Amino acid sequence: MRNISLIFKQFSRSVLLIAGLVVCGLTAHAQTDAAKGEAIFKAKCTACHKIDTRMTGPALGPQLTSETDDAYLTKWIQNNQALIAAKNPKAVKIFNEYNQAGMTVFAELSDADVGNVITYIRADWKKIQEDKAKAPAAGAVAEDKGPSSLVIWGLLGVIVIAFIVILVLNKVIATLERLLLNRQGIVLEEDAEEEKVKADRTATFKKLLKNKKLVFFIVLCGTIAMGSFSWVTMWNTNVHQGYQPVQPIKYSHELHAGAMKIECQYCHTGAFKSKNASIPSLNVCMNCHKSVKTESPEIHKIYDALGYDPNTAKYDSTKAKPIQWVRIHNLPDLAYFNHSQHVKVGAIKCQTCHGPVETMKEVYQYSPLTMKWCIQCHKRTEVNGKGNAYYDSILAAHDKIKKGEKVTAAVLGGIECAKCHY
Ligand code: HEC
Ligand code: HEC
Ligand code: HEC
Ligand code: HEC
Ligand code: HEC
Ligand code: HEC
Repeated sequence: MRNISLIFKQFSRSVLLIAGLVVCGLTAHAQTDAAKGEAIFKAKCTACHKIDTRMTGPALGPQLTSETDDAYLTKWIQNNQALIAAKNPKAVKIFNEYNQAGMTVFAELSDADVGNVITYIRADWKKIQEDKAKAPAAGAVAEDKGPSSLVIWGLLGVIVIAFIVILVLNKVIATLERLLLNRQGIVLEEDAEEEKVKADRTATFKKLLKNKKLVFFIVLCGTIAMGSFSWVTMWNTNVHQGYQPVQPIKYSHELHAGAMKIECQYCHTGAFKSKNASIPSLNVCMNCHKSVKTESPEIHKIYDALGYDPNTAKYDSTKAKPIQWVRIHNLPDLAYFNHSQHVKVGAIKCQTCHGPVETMKEVYQYSPLTMKWCIQCHKRTEVNGKGNAYYDSILAAHDKIKKGEKVTAAVLGGIECAKCHY
């Protein structure tokens, strides 16, 4: 018996090994093709296409199903304009569908290159769909991890109410019983006992009240509790950490800056060169939303605000009315804060002060923005002065002072425009 099972074990092991090697070999082969394709896709196609969402061009995952004719696709990708000029019905149809946006001609791509790109797109689309299929299951598990706080509070409430009801019912029953017995002329021993206990209790309470040390202690505790409560409240006056107003358009940083990885400064252009990071004008949104999600009511708010008619693709400035974003971060006027000084010169990441914005569906104020917050960071953060003209000029001035030479305000930066002008 043992011999047989040993042989079986060895046999199954070698089968597994061979199977493993074959799979590895196959995936390695597929990977090289897909990897080459990915490089081409990233370099040449991502400006207009994504695998899973529509951009300037169609979402390529669903477009390139396994039934799609590869010979046509190869011709299309290498020279779509030739196909359109030759009035290929499929080509003309999609060209018109996309308002004749026109795709670049990629004559430099060989048939093999195009094949690799197609392999990559199909593999990636398959992966995205598999991930999607798994995602809801994972979400369900996460949600099942524990009852929500609402449920817990609800349960607690029910328990407390049930407890009160039981107490009241007990009391009522006891009273009824006593009434019954009283009517029958029976006085319970228990009742006499209770009277005595009550009298004792009042006596102890009066005694405690006379104990001055105890009274003082209780008053002290009360004062400390009230005092620290108002102290904390006072310190937090005008601190709006966590402030998260509802914005007029459901614009999501999680989607745009997170999933789509649009750089912060694509929209907040001022952050690197001026005091204000600035909120983008709606024209920035229109770079994409002229053709993305045109049917969404949220996007129609952008169109309305610009007086844009998606059917005629024309702007009517008389109908325009600006979107009123609600400002979240707001220092009082008495404090001067400059973004470029921190982001460019200090090389501080946006997230250090604003938190993980790329994961926020709605932005909230992450930092307290108190003076203590500014000062603590200034005390902790080391400045990198290398290759910075400002610090070079300070060093130069320092050398001059050491040598006993004259130093003017100009040497210290007193003729730089931004020192006197906003
Ligand atoms: C300048 C923008 C742009 C670039 C770059 C671009 N495309 Fe396109 N693509 C489009 C547009 C727009 C369409 C829709 C048809 C049209 O308007 O010409 C399209 C359509 C397609 C189609 C659909 C054809 C059909 O009939 O189903 C495929 C496939 C495609 N592109 C692949 C690629 C590949 C692969 C690359 C990179 C090598 C690429 N595209 C680069 C804009 C672009
Ligand atoms: C596609 C454009 C776009 C991109 C990209 C973008 N933002 Fe924004 N951001 C906006 C818009 C529009 C608002 C105003 C509406 C709001 O608060 O959600 C805003 C608001 C903010 C605010 C709050 C401003 C206030 O009122 O105090 C912060 C902070 C912010 N963005 C940081 C970032 C950071 C950090 C990144 C990069 C990770 C980023 N944003 C990327 C468009 C963008
Ligand atoms: C680089 C391109 C790009 C820019 C710039 C951009 N968006 Fe988007 N946005 C998208 C894409 C793509 C989607 C759709 C994702 C999807 O398919 O759900 C989207 C989705 C949205 C949605 C959700 C629509 C819905 O109903 O699901 C809103 C709202 C939105 N964007 C607002 C804005 C605003 C406001 C701006 C300007 C501050 C902006 N977007 C700038 C590409 C962009
Ligand atoms: C050192 C901390 C710090 C860093 C780093 C920082 N911010 Fe800010 N940000 C602030 C403060 C403070 C305010 C409020 C300014 C005010 O009210 O005058 C603010 C305000 C904003 C606003 C509101 C509009 C405005 O211009 O005042 C936006 C948008 C914004 N920041 C985006 C960004 C982006 C994008 C980055 C990264 C490129 C960034 N911030 C980096 C601290 C910072
Ligand atoms: C995350 C850290 C950090 C926070 C938070 C921060 N700062 Fe700074 N700040 C710096 C650094 C680093 C520099 C020096 C940049 C440089 O010149 O190299 C700086 C420089 C400055 C300067 C210029 C100082 C000079 O000598 O020219 C001013 C003004 C300033 N910060 C104001 C503020 C204010 C106001 C706040 C709070 C609202 C704040 N900072 C919050 C890191 C921070
Ligand atoms: C030492 C401080 C200081 C510096 C440095 C400085 N300015 Fe001025 N500037 C002023 C003052 C004060 C005024 C207003 C008095 C006036 O109009 O004559 C002014 C006025 C101006 C005006 C006229 C504004 C108007 O509406 O009349 C301009 C333009 C100007 N400055 C540009 C610059 C430029 C560009 C630089 C950098 C090369 C610069 N300034 C550097 C102090 C300064």
